[in-house]
Amino acid sequence: MIDYSTIERIIQVAEITDVVGDFVSLKRRGVNFLGLCPFHNEKTPSFTVSPSKGIFKCFGCGKGGNSVNFLMEHEHLTYPDALRWLAKKYHIEIAETEESAEELVQKNERESMMILNEFAWKYFSRIMNDSDEGRAVGLGYFKERGFRREIIEKFQLGYSPEQRDAFVKEALKSGYKQEYIIKTGLGIEKNDRFFDRFSGRVIFPIHSLSGRIIGFGGRILRSDAQAAKYLNSPESEIYHKSATLYGIYFARNAMVREDKCILVEGYTDVLSMHQTGIENVVASSGTSLTEDQIRLIKRFTINVTILYDGDPAGIKASLRGIDMILAEGMHVRVVSLPVGEDPDSFARSHSSAAMLDYLKNNETDFIRFKTKLLLEDAGKDPVKRAQMIQEVVRSVAIIPDRIERTVYLQECSTMLGVDEQTLFTEAARIKRKQWEANRTGKGEYTPVQDISAPRQTDPNAVSPAISSTSLFETEEREIIRLMLNYPDKIVIELPGEHLGETTPISVMDFFLQEMETDNLVPENPIYAKVFHEFQDKWGSPGINVQTMLTNSQDSEISHLAVDLLTPGYQISKIHEKGGAYVRSEDQIIRILAPEVLASYRSKKVKQMISLIDDQIRNLQGTEDDGLITGLLEDRRQLEELRKAYSKELRRIII
Ligand code: CTP
Ligand code: MN
Repeated sequence: MIDYSTIERIIQVAEITDVVGDFVSLKRRGVNFLGLCPFHNEKTPSFTVSPSKGIFKCFGCGKGGNSVNFLMEHEHLTYPDALRWLAKKYHIEIAETEESAEELVQKNERESMMILNEFAWKYFSRIMNDSDEGRAVGLGYFKERGFRREIIEKFQLGYSPEQRDAFVKEALKSGYKQEYIIKTGLGIEKNDRFFDRFSGRVIFPIHSLSGRIIGFGGRILRSDAQAAKYLNSPESEIYHKSATLYGIYFARNAMVREDKCILVEGYTDVLSMHQTGIENVVASSGTSLTEDQIRLIKRFTINVTILYDGDPAGIKASLRGIDMILAEGMHVRVVSLPVGEDPDSFARSHSSAAMLDYLKNNETDFIRFKTKLLLEDAGKDPVKRAQMIQEVVRSVAIIPDRIERTVYLQECSTMLGVDEQTLFTEAARIKRKQWEANRTGKGEYTPVQDISAPRQTDPNAVSPAISSTSLFETEEREIIRLMLNYPDKIVIELPGEHLGETTPISVMDFFLQEMETDNLVPENPIYAKVFHEFQDKWGSPGINVQTMLTNSQDSEISHLAVDLLTPGYQISKIHEKGGAYVRSEDQIIRILAPEVLASYRSKKVKQMISLIDDQIRNLQGTEDDGLITGLLEDRRQLEELRKAYSKELRRIII
């Protein structure tokens, strides 16, 4: 561990233009520097570096951060390694604090496992290329399947010989500990004997995001075998299947460049796609997508295209996983291949151009795809139809962006032949339910299920990502943005203790106090995190909230801070010409801050009112008059509050 004061020193000394300048050629442009983004292909520069804020930001691909983040991203380094890199550059001696014995053991253990995996890969590769058995069986298999030399090398494929203990013997002989051979799963201990896990299989190394080998997949070659077709490394300290995507290391750059991720099922699908020249491909490795995997994709692009085998049963089974992707605000499209084809076979029998053409012509938006599929399925059966409409609307309701939701509902109304208003009402009902469940923590969000399958309550299926955040997204983001950009600017002067005195209230104090009074905390978890940081740290001597957040070790926070501190593209252009816009924003902060707060409050109240309306509607017809009367009274008070806020808002705007 690097001690905290050293980290601070490194970050202070590491001048951003100097660090980035080692990799990107930068030209001065006003107060900033400009260059070609190293993270995506571009011809006109949209990569800016702000020396005063110590951050970089690309307007093309959205990447941004401080000098440490730059190195992590560009050189694929971990946080501590990026710091070490900088320390070396600036000749800062690192005082590494003693790692606790446990930390040390863990780190050594992970490192030892990866080193062993590295050794194993080299072994499997050597056997495949240099031994008779390897060439005949392993290499022969890949050749027969049509994989070319460069793909075999790029993906570091190999072969584990038939002899049951060939690898473990070799590893032990080379000094690797049995303990790690077992922990990585490369060897298996059974009845006092020590065996290879993968003997007689071709080997697919599985890489981490930064290209290190964290596990293996091994395919059996005999087709008559009882054994599983694929064996994978077991879960371990370094390999978590549910958080891994096969091929991510080789796809990450292309995913950013194409702004799209193509999702396939298996190892060979990834290889064949690469071989035709389509590189933005990853595989979920046979299981349905997990939230960790979705987040991993989202770091590079929000557009996902799922490539299905031409097999309707498989498609229907995977419908349920997709709502999770929608909930992340990502755009999902699907392509189904002709019956009997999988991405691997299709890519092998088509040229790159033909494959790209097919993808382009058959890519269907997921909601449309699902609607059509279920529509066909339900036929004329009215009960099934009603269920189906619910299913579709539920998927739409999960989409965080309100405009997107609206467009979808309109379209579904046409496709389903159902009145638009009915769909809107249904969607609103579902959203409110989600909101309530989230707010109270009671009830649970039930993810969409294949309607032909019985409903199960799988606790792992509950997606915490669903929330009504979108409703307040604009206001919450704006509040955090103002707090971060203008913490010290004065919003209002309140009467002081003595007559004639005034106390100036800063933007930070203004929002902290006002929101605390109303018990308001942003619903978006990241904004909430930042808000709590402000609550905790504001007022500490010498605090600079901007560097505090841009240097946060929580990458979600530092990314957000960089985004919020970077003026939008439009704004910065205006700024360059006249220098007027940005200055004027801090001049009108006295209006901006109260305005956004009033709008936030007004929306909150509106939502509470509609919740009450909902409850009243549910109670109607149940003899519970007393309850209804109470609710009506609440509603009346809220209405008044709302009017007051609207008035305030009008007053501010005018
Ligand atoms: N899989 C697995 N274990 C199995 C079967 C499959 O882990 N017993 C995973 C593998 O990642 C595999 C993916 O699920 O790549 C898809 O399975 P499948 O379609 O059966 O294999 P393919 O990738 O098509 O492999 P091949 O073309 O070699 O038959
Ligand atoms: Mn296949």
